[in-house]
Amino acid sequence: MLGIKILGTGRYDPGKKVVNEDFTSFIDTSDEWIRTRTGMQERFVSDGEPTWYMGTQAAKKAIEAAGISPEEIGVIIDTSVSPDYYTPSMSCMIQRELHAVNAMTIDVNCACAGCVYGIDMAKRYLQTDDGIKYALVVANENLTKITDYSDRSTCVLFGDGAAALVIAKSENSLYSSHLGADGTGAKYLFARSIPPANAFMTGEGRVDDGFPEPNGHYLCQDGKAVYKFATRALPKALKTAAEKIDFCLDDLDVIIPHQANVRIIETAAKNLGISMDKFVVNLDRHANTSSASIPIAIDEAVRSGRIKRGDKVGLVGFGAGLTFGAVIFEY
Ligand code: ACO
Repeated sequence: MLGIKILGTGRYDPGKKVVNEDFTSFIDTSDEWIRTRTGMQERFVSDGEPTWYMGTQAAKKAIEAAGISPEEIGVIIDTSVSPDYYTPSMSCMIQRELHAVNAMTIDVNCACAGCVYGIDMAKRYLQTDDGIKYALVVANENLTKITDYSDRSTCVLFGDGAAALVIAKSENSLYSSHLGADGTGAKYLFARSIPPANAFMTGEGRVDDGFPEPNGHYLCQDGKAVYKFATRALPKALKTAAEKIDFCLDDLDVIIPHQANVRIIETAAKNLGISMDKFVVNLDRHANTSSASIPIAIDEAVRSGRIKRGDKVGLVGFGAGLTFGAVIFEY
């Protein structure tokens, strides 16, 4: 089977660290509530660094670790729900910064499943286009830009960060994926862009999106609905990816789930009958960085030696959209 090889990883932790206690000065919350309901303790937040900058820094480290030159990259896939511009794309900005002159550029918006989608897209480009030797997947998030710091039910959950992976194809190697979405759940987690209003619009054609009342451009979440979706989607995505290749999930060495809430991960582990020891959890130090959470955890696991060459790894993400996705591969 044709699989992937992650040649190099990198990450960028932004300049500021916020601990749970810091929130108590401006909202009615406590370290105890945040820790027990989510598992989170601290998170990095942007100190003014734009999203593309964070992604570029992570990408430079991944390219260095892979031992390749930026000119050898054939495709850059960037994932973000918090880009700096409507246009140009984050992948174009990163291509510019890296001088990756031979890379085509694609941005994807699949929220917390973004990196899993990006890896699977990279694999398909590597598989079908002999002109592409290396793919660069970058996940960069500046969620604090779209976080409402007067809403205690969301603001404690998110952090900023970026991570990147240099990927090549690998012959005769384990690989499966299962990606999906349920757009009927779009209203459970959203952040609006600017409304359609300019000199030529009368407003008569306004179409209701069915979402709750406007909340500016801030992230708005029905935490319970997303929680319910996540605890079902996480095991189902992994199981379906495994079934496609007749793979037994017990044979996974490491599972890296999206880092939204430790209770979601514990519930999924129980449903799958897999020990929590196999799950990488770093949300205590990073909180939820949306699409960046899985590659940040990959980079930490690679650099700390938790993932070793030959290990069978499962990645599983879920998030706004609603989207979900799992990838099984050999590191
Ligand atoms: N501090 C103190 N109290 C709080 C806080 C807070 N920060 N936030 C909410 N509360 C209160 C609520 O007001 C409520 O009070 P009430 O009972 O008086 O009404 C009480 O705590 C319980 O609130 P719940 O919403 O029931 O808390 P729950 O245990 O469900 O935890 C949470 C909320 C952490 C948001 C959980 O639902 C969750 O993790 N949901 C999933 C989020 C997720 O996975 N998002 C992923 C995608 S992110 C992306 O794609 C960008």
